[in-house]
Amino acid sequence: MKVHINAERCQGHGRCYDLSPELFTEDEEGYGQISGDGLVPGGAEPAAHLAAANCPERAIAVQEA
Ligand code: F3S
Repeated sequence: MKVHINAERCQGHGRCYDLSPELFTEDEEGYGQISGDGLVPGGAEPAAHLAAANCPERAIAVQEA
């Protein structure tokens, strides 16, 4: 599983890195960033779906492996 942020949609709401800090971080302006290469480690799948479901801009895509 992989996560991706569409930077054109992200408005910096911050729910991704607040809810799922193991997968997301923020840049210096508060926009969401993927931690690492976006591969979701085993056990973190719920965190990926949680972040995607809570992004008001629907900027987060979860790609099933
Ligand atoms: Fe951006 Fe959505 Fe996260 S707007 S900061 S990707 S919650």
